[in-house]
Amino acid sequence: MTMGDGTGRDTAIDDRPAIDPPAWFVEQANVSDPSVYDAFEAEWPECWDRAGELLDWDDPYDAVFRGDERPPFEWFPGGRLNASYNCIDRHLPERKNQLALIWEGPLGDATTYTYRELYREVNAVAAALRDHGVEADDVVTIYLPMVPELPILMLACVRLGVVHNVVFAGFSADALAERMERTGSELLVTCDGYYRRGSAVAQKNKADNARIAVDQDVSVVVVERLGLDVHLGDGYYDYEALRATHDGAEVDPVPRAADDTLFRIYTSGTTGEPKAVDHTTGGYLAHVAWTAQSVLDIKPGDTYWCSADIGWITGHSYIVYGPLSLGTTTVLYNGTPDHPEKDRLWELVERYAVDVFYTAPTAVRAFMKWGEEHPAGHDLSSLRLLGTVGEPIDERAWRWYREHIGGGECPVVDTWWQTETGAILVSTLPGVDGMKPGAAGKPLPGIETGVVDPAGEGVSEGEAGELVVTRPWPGMPDALRTGEDWGAAAARGEEWRYYPEDGATIDDDGYITVLGRVDDAINVAGRRFSTMELESAITGVTGIAEAAVVGADHETTGTALYAYVSAEDGYTEADLRERIAEAVTDAIGGVAKPEAVVFTPDLPKTRSGKVMRRLLAAVANDDPLGDISALRNPEIVGELQSATPDS
Ligand code: WTA
Repeated sequence: MTMGDGTGRDTAIDDRPAIDPPAWFVEQANVSDPSVYDAFEAEWPECWDRAGELLDWDDPYDAVFRGDERPPFEWFPGGRLNASYNCIDRHLPERKNQLALIWEGPLGDATTYTYRELYREVNAVAAALRDHGVEADDVVTIYLPMVPELPILMLACVRLGVVHNVVFAGFSADALAERMERTGSELLVTCDGYYRRGSAVAQKNKADNARIAVDQDVSVVVVERLGLDVHLGDGYYDYEALRATHDGAEVDPVPRAADDTLFRIYTSGTTGEPKAVDHTTGGYLAHVAWTAQSVLDIKPGDTYWCSADIGWITGHSYIVYGPLSLGTTTVLYNGTPDHPEKDRLWELVERYAVDVFYTAPTAVRAFMKWGEEHPAGHDLSSLRLLGTVGEPIDERAWRWYREHIGGGECPVVDTWWQTETGAILVSTLPGVDGMKPGAAGKPLPGIETGVVDPAGEGVSEGEAGELVVTRPWPGMPDALRTGEDWGAAAARGEEWRYYPEDGATIDDDGYITVLGRVDDAINVAGRRFSTMELESAITGVTGIAEAAVVGADHETTGTALYAYVSAEDGYTEADLRERIAEAVTDAIGGVAKPEAVVFTPDLPKTRSGKVMRRLLAAVANDDPLGDISALRNPEIVGELQSATPDS
């Protein structure tokens, strides 16, 4: 079986037998009956009742789905519900004294909230917001790091039917202003500052600058985290004072129609401008709850930790809404994995006896680079399931994760989804499906996807194509649901389809391997290479921790491949260089051999952990760097520039 791009490379993944989940896992799994796939198929769309049933509705829905071949689509029409009620109130009879949130700070400080305490906080803050004049459908912007006030405010907003717009705390003032201006949001909640890697970040200064930059009048509520003596001028309010005034208040959760907006989140679109994605109250929450249950196998009473930041969709869906709607204990960590030491996460897994851990492949590769002694020093036996999200995970990192974090026993779910999909669409059900390291898995029950060529026809097994979602799903965003955004499908004049703009292959078992964004493809000498394909060849070399490949202008080939790599300790560059060339030649062909291999201690990454390839391409081409405010490690840029040879 070969790739369809003429490289003649074996895809290999489909030749390998799947790794079955261990019997002890299957026995306790939320979903363990393989007939779930057929059952969903036979009863689509009514099958999604199974997700709707996980929630409490004020008014029951008239139907699970209403719609035809094309938009508009409606999920759970007629139903009314409140997300705050579903995440808090309904758990009180059984688990008021169970922890809802565990917050762990950067300096070893920690706070916990039981469901009862969370109820009290959320009600007080909701009362304060209501008093401030905020009403259903208003948009409140929240610009906070990973502190307990962040989920508390989100839940307070949705209690009132107010739409929250969380802006990642690491974004610049300009990025914040742009997102506020686009939503017309008139209330901003931020904090005085917070600690990051041991130093204080002056968050309020950034908020002040954004406030000045936008056209609308903005009130600002300031959460005091650092005890900085910040000045609260006109239009500024102290969070604690507002909360204390309303302590003990109770606010009735406002019932919302299933397709009313729950929140807005901005993501990067193809135009490079931030794109607003609105998620619905009913469809989104049902989809998130169902996937948290079936894929992440979360049970009420579990201690569950997703190490993402709430500022991104992963945190919205699988730190806040998924786990809390299921009545679990969700861990919030405001800190970095290597501060104060490289075993920080494992210390926390041990201390809190975490059952399920969900992180990004980039983090796994960092753990791998730091060495297995860090997890080995801790008792990680509480872990039952591991997950990854956000980018493809190569087989080596997958195996390392399972071996050194999962004790060689835990199933690993590689979950594919996006800001736009709201919740997981492609993965394995850990209590049902075999796992193929490197492949995400199949479309989940009730989800239909395909891998197609540019003409929209399905590709043959092992051939690279574009991933498409060919049926509506409950967590779909408003613009897709209403048809406002017909997207690429309409442009191509086809039936309704959603193009996530990811390249993929599919094997004969229907397992999908995501190759990366289609816009990450590089053409060299008339051949197209997936950066992912190149990178997985390079990271397959023992001693290479991470790699990113970009195209640089080249006299003869038009484009040359530049590989930026970081090595594990104890390997020599000369040796690795040679083996990288061999590995690429072996896997893809001599034509794909990188023109330059640049060693760097770390790759440039956004705060959500994505490698900023655009920056590497700019460095390789000696172009202006553009906006690098989203960069987590800007100090690396100078090093990259001096290490990069002239093209
Ligand atoms: C990529 C994050 C491979 C993909 C939830 C997608 C993945 C983009 C995976 C969305 C995975 C996400 N395997 N690639 N398991 N999960 N991606 O919007 O390119 O921040 O389109 O959502 O991440 O990123 P976003």
